[in-house]
Amino acid sequence: MKTIDLTKRDLRRFVTFAADTAVGAGNLLKRGFNRQHSVRYKGRINPVTEYDTRSERYIVSQVNRRFRDHNILAEEGTDQQERSEFLWVIDPLDGTVNYAHRFPIYCVSIGLLYRGEPVVGAVYDPERNELFSASRDQGAHMNSRRIQVSDENRLDRALVATGFAYDVATARKNNLGLFSRMVKCAQGVRRPGSAAIDLCWLAAGRLDAFWEFKLHPWDTAAAVVIVREAGGKVTKIDGTRYSIFDDEILASNRRLHPVMKKTLLAPTA
Ligand code: IPD
Ligand code: CA
Ligand code: CA
Repeated sequence: MKTIDLTKRDLRRFVTFAADTAVGAGNLLKRGFNRQHSVRYKGRINPVTEYDTRSERYIVSQVNRRFRDHNILAEEGTDQQERSEFLWVIDPLDGTVNYAHRFPIYCVSIGLLYRGEPVVGAVYDPERNELFSASRDQGAHMNSRRIQVSDENRLDRALVATGFAYDVATARKNNLGLFSRMVKCAQGVRRPGSAAIDLCWLAAGRLDAFWEFKLHPWDTAAAVVIVREAGGKVTKIDGTRYSIFDDEILASNRRLHPVMKKTLLAPTA
């Protein structure tokens, strides 16, 4: 990882802002959770609720107010990229299908990149009032408690998670083969429906590994910092360097990385 020239004070300022803003947006989502809300579709099974949009509007207004010259990339259309070295990468509601069904696993994810490197992340789960946050070299926290990945090294004792992209019904690379392989190798496989929560639960030791294809930068920008700062490892499936702009991710408690990699890369029979 590249060294960065931000001070601890800078990082503290950014992570406090990201955390406060994620909580503000999460409270807005929580208020809308049991209400009737309008839904439109970006694709056959890819919904956007009015709360995705409201949450994004709120977060973008906060960033613009506080860091007027910073760049912003957010899922529901905000793409303000000028000359700043800072880029806020935002998923205003990760887990929209869950949210639309009142299935209570969803969150707000706010990450900050500095010269292309993820340096700060905050993910807020309003249903459990759990705020995950981290900044480079400063450790990862859930609320104010320090968190760490698990130390499991056996796949048959590991609880792992994944997800499927919205084109699962039509794409060749649909993750279904690897999903069924992993069901036979791991102790358990889960598909909670929010990649940012999956990664934070890995950071907190509730899951031992996670992989997925075709995620977007806003799904992972915040959580990769949280996983790494909790002692985990994040790469592409083949173990090479991961960027949030890549379309595949393998994250683990570090000890499981070799066996996860081997299992996911094994040729099909
Ligand atoms: C989705 C969730 C899901 C993952 C999908 C994502 P969204 O994000 O993170 O867990 O499997 O690939 O697109 O659309 O709810 O923000
Ligand atoms: Ca998402
Ligand atoms: Ca989203």
